[in-house]
Amino acid sequence: MIIPGSIERVLLDEETIQQRVKAIAAQISADYRDVKDIILVGVLKGSFIFLADLARNLTVPHHIDFVALSSYGAQGATSGAVRLIMDTRAPVTGQHVIIVEDILDTGQTLDYLLRNFKARQPASLRSCVLLSKPDRRQVDVTIDYLGFEIPDVWVVGYGLDYADRFRTLPYIGALKKEFYEQ
Ligand code: PRP
Repeated sequence: MIIPGSIERVLLDEETIQQRVKAIAAQISADYRDVKDIILVGVLKGSFIFLADLARNLTVPHHIDFVALSSYGAQGATSGAVRLIMDTRAPVTGQHVIIVEDILDTGQTLDYLLRNFKARQPASLRSCVLLSKPDRRQVDVTIDYLGFEIPDVWVVGYGLDYADRFRTLPYIGALKKEFYEQ
């Protein structure tokens, strides 16, 4: 659902996103060409569209799984306390795992997930993030595959939301300030 006049500008159009997603999928397919299987772990909810497009462009065998997290803090602000509220269905020990995120802001969420998954001794563990806001970073966290660096504006579309809306826009747009500050 789009509220008329709520998008300030289109940051990344559909074609730009699709091209980049295909390039990332090609890179992952090349890097894992000798691996029997990969588990792509999508972080709900924001990653669901990116994960779907990424997975459909992979040319290597893969499984899809999901985690859900809860973070404490006001809307739009991560307090740093992250908790797993839904775990992967399959165990990841001994598996090649790629954590797929839509956006890296403070870095707290991905930092928590990488630590949590590392403790389960996967065969390998990497991160794949569509968007990064470097200006917002609080934790130094490694991104193995990155789509785009973006400025510190509220972005919606392609999985990303404001109050759980706008997720199904095919592009990524900046929300008007007055919209989320009202
Ligand atoms: C977003 C995003 C990451 C996290 C990044 O999730 O999907 O999981 O915030 O922020 P951080 O780097 O500051 O930790 P959100 O809480 O908006 O949930 P959603 O994916 O369900 O929209």
